[in-house]
Amino acid sequence: MKEICLNTRDSFCRILVGESFKNVGEYHPGKKLVIITDENVYRHYGAFLPEGLLITIKPGESSKTLSIASDIYGQLITNEIDRNSFILGVGGGIVCDLAGYIASTYLRGLSFGFVSTTLLSQVDASIGGKNGVNYEGYKNMVGVIRQPEFVICDPEMLTTLPREEYHMGFAEVIKYGAIVNKELFDLLEKDHKKALDGEEKTLEEIISICVEAKCRIVETDEKESGERKKLNFGHTFAHAFEKITGIPHGEAVSIGMVLAAGISAKLGLIGSQDVYRLRDLIEKYHLPVTYPHAFDDVFEVMKRDKKRDGDSIGLILLDKIGEAVIHDIDLDMLKNWIDDMR
Ligand SMILES: NC(=O)c1ccc[n+]([C@@H]2O[C@H](COP(=O)([O-])OP(=O)(O)OC[C@H]3O[C@@H](n4cnc5c(N)ncnc54)[C@H](O)[C@@H]3O)[C@@H](O)[C@H]2O)c1
Ligand SMILES: [Zn+2]
Repeated sequence: MKEICLNTRDSFCRILVGESFKNVGEYHPGKKLVIITDENVYRHYGAFLPEGLLITIKPGESSKTLSIASDIYGQLITNEIDRNSFILGVGGGIVCDLAGYIASTYLRGLSFGFVSTTLLSQVDASIGGKNGVNYEGYKNMVGVIRQPEFVICDPEMLTTLPREEYHMGFAEVIKYGAIVNKELFDLLEKDHKKALDGEEKTLEEIISICVEAKCRIVETDEKESGERKKLNFGHTFAHAFEKITGIPHGEAVSIGMVLAAGISAKLGLIGSQDVYRLRDLIEKYHLPVTYPHAFDDVFEVMKRDKKRDGDSIGLILLDKIGEAVIHDIDLDMLKNWIDDMR
């Protein structure tokens, strides 16, 4: 087991990689427990959950809403949940985002923790304190930044994850290798079979490196005014692809990373061999590297991205493998590149 701590100005979070979720009871002593989970996670792990008020949501983005949050506030009031209670989210990114949001807003904030059950949430969604819900189809529009007390990342739980979900988690893992950690990138190339097979030691090492990387970034820039933006590598394209076609996030990010690397090469920041290396690694993890639809609306949607600033947009590019830079790209130039991609 590896413990990684996230220290921000006013909070302290312990992330326990390799801890068994069965030991969760040791981390919230003496408090009345509310457990928020989803039906799939409950089916696999319900029998092992600690005693407490159990709230089970339907899986999927349609549960990450103000109306489900409002329904849960009602259940908390009915069950006399007070400031001495503790909220435990047990699930993937959807459960963690929702449970963290409820814990941060109900009674102006209860303490909370997560058992993070997908690869994506272990390396990304449950780390860093962004909690929130969607609003009328706009993703993550309403939310707060507030750190949980602990996050348990138990790689054993990933064995029950649907194969596609498991692969998609690797899109974010590869992202860390590309933007901040060349050793991780090398390890993902070398040990891809072990990683894909879910070999526990390899997985624990990979997850720990990602968590460590995210914690260090969040510690320097919790509110995302600079450094934290680098975590959006591949995501500006990805958000447009997801919006236009509804392709899953991990697939959209994979394609977005290849395109952002391609732009980095066009600008002479990296060589074309680095673009091929990234593309090959993504393919090794059974993720797509080309956009399977027309590029027609991509520029129009990207123009509306929150990283746009007047006539330019801040794109996260690669300076080399293991190092990202933020470049303001002129919108006309971006449009020409996207036209070339058609
Ligand atoms: N807060 C952040 O910083 C942040 C960062 C990235 C993504 N997110 C959010 O995370 C969400 C996506 O998270 P996700 O990819 O984990 O999806 P998810 O929570 O929907 O989980 C994926 C699927 O796997 C099932 N599942 C979860 N754990 C399982 C297990 N151990 N065994 C079997 N099935 C299991 C779930 O029921 C679901 O059907 C999005 O809403 C996204 O906006 C948040
Ligand atoms: Zn992502």
